[in-house]
Amino acid sequence: MDAIHIQGGNPLFGETKIQGSKNAVLPVMAAALLIEDVCIIENCPHISDVQHMKQLLEGIGCRVNFTNGTITIDARNISDDTMSGESVTGMRSSIMLLGAMLGRVGEVTMAYPGGCVIGERPIDLHLNALRRMGVSVYEKEGGFTARVKSLEGTVLRLPISSVGATENIILAAVKARGVTVLQNAAKEPEIVTLCEFLREAGAVIEGIGGSVLIIQGGHELHGIRFKTPPDRIVAGTYLMSVLGAGGHIFLEDAPVSQMRSMLVTAREMGAEVSISKEGLTIIADDHRKAVPYLKTEVYPGFPTDIQSILMAALTTADGVSVIEETIFENRFRIASQLQKMGACIELLGSRKAVITGVDSLLGCEVTAQELRGGAALVIAGCMAMGETVIKNRHFIERGYEDICRDYQNLGVNIYTG
Ligand code: EPZ
Repeated sequence: MDAIHIQGGNPLFGETKIQGSKNAVLPVMAAALLIEDVCIIENCPHISDVQHMKQLLEGIGCRVNFTNGTITIDARNISDDTMSGESVTGMRSSIMLLGAMLGRVGEVTMAYPGGCVIGERPIDLHLNALRRMGVSVYEKEGGFTARVKSLEGTVLRLPISSVGATENIILAAVKARGVTVLQNAAKEPEIVTLCEFLREAGAVIEGIGGSVLIIQGGHELHGIRFKTPPDRIVAGTYLMSVLGAGGHIFLEDAPVSQMRSMLVTAREMGAEVSISKEGLTIIADDHRKAVPYLKTEVYPGFPTDIQSILMAALTTADGVSVIEETIFENRFRIASQLQKMGACIELLGSRKAVITGVDSLLGCEVTAQELRGGAALVIAGCMAMGETVIKNRHFIERGYEDICRDYQNLGVNIYTG
C-alpha cells in the first residue's frame, strides 16, 4: 500500500540527521549537463525527484551513476535533444534542463513540466527571459521546442523573483556570449548553491546571494566534486513537528543560517531553540502559542514550502493564528484533511487561513495531495490521538528520503504499509 501509518499523541524525543537538499541538488544536476566532463555530486538525497532527473539526463545521453548518496554525471556525450514522458511532466525541475540544454546544444524539445498541484506554475518568465537572450520558442500542444544559434548576454529584469526562472537564466547565461545582468533575481539558498557549483566549475558569476547577478558567459567549465548542502525545508519540517507535538529533539546538520525566519516563528510559539556547530536543538512543552499573523515570502522571509507544515503545528496552539500565502494559490488544499482530524481552520479566499487551536487532533484516514501538504499530514499524525493513515505516500517521497526512518529516530511509532 502507498500509505504511512502513525500511532500519534506523544511528544518527540531523539535526534536525526538532515538529508541533502532536493531543491539544491536538482539544478546542480542540470548544471552538470553544461560541463563536457565528469562531475561527482555528494550527499544527494535518495528521493524520487532525483531519480527522475537521473532518468532525464540518461535519456539525452549522459552516463549517470547513483550509489550511496553520490551521483556521478558524465556529460561528455549528448545524443538526444528531446525530453518527454513521466519524468518531465511529473516534476517541475525538469524545466531546469531547458536552460542547460540551450547552453549545451542550442536546442531542446520538451513537454511542459509538471510538479506539485500548488498553483498555476506557468513558465512564461523562463521563456520570456530566454527569448531576450536570442532563443526562439515554438509552442505546440503539451510542450514546446526552443532553439538558439548563439545565446547572447543581456540585461534582464524579472517581474517576480522566480526561483526556477533565475536558475534557468543562470544556466543559459554561463554559456552565452558576453555579460548577462539579471535584476530582481531570486535569493534563495538554492540559487547560491547553483552559482557556487558553477563558479567552482569555472564560471564567472558576481553578486551571488544578492538580487543582481552578473554572469560573464563563455568561460570553459570543467568537472568538479561537489557536496550538496542539507535541506532547509526538511529541517524546517522536523522543527515544526516539535512545535506541534512537543518534545526535545536534535537535528544534526540543520542549515540554521538558512532557517532564520522559521526559528523566529518557533521562538514566537514558545519553543526553546539552540544552535551549535553540529545542528539545532529544539525543546517545546505541551503549550505552544498561536502566531497572530504570518505571511509567506521569498527568501529570507518565511518559506511557502513550510506554510502547510506550520499550519498543522498550529492546529493545537493556544489561540488564533492567521496565515497569508503570497506565493502559491493552492497551498491550502491541506486544510480539508486537517479538518477531518478535528482542526478548526477557516479559509478566507485562497490566500488567507484562520486557525483556531483545538485541544487535540484525532487520528483518521487522510490523503496527501502534494509533497509538503503530505508532510504536514505526517506532523498532524504525530500530534493526533490514535492511528492516522496517510494515503498517497509517493507524494511525500518526492522530497523526503525516508520520512518514517527520520520520525522513528525521533521516537514516533510510524511505518509504511
Ligand atoms: C521553487 O519552485 C521550488 N521548487 C518550490 O519548492 C518552492 O516552493 C518555490 O521555488 C518558491 O520558493 C524547486 O526548487 C524545484 P517560483 P518554482 O518560480 O521555481 C510564479 C517544494 O515543495 N511564476 O519561484 O516553480 C509562480 O506561479 C517546492 O520543494 C510565474 O508566474 O517557484 C509562483 O506564484 C514546490 N511565471 C511564483 O512565481 C513563471 O514563469 C514563484 O514561483 C514562473 C513562476
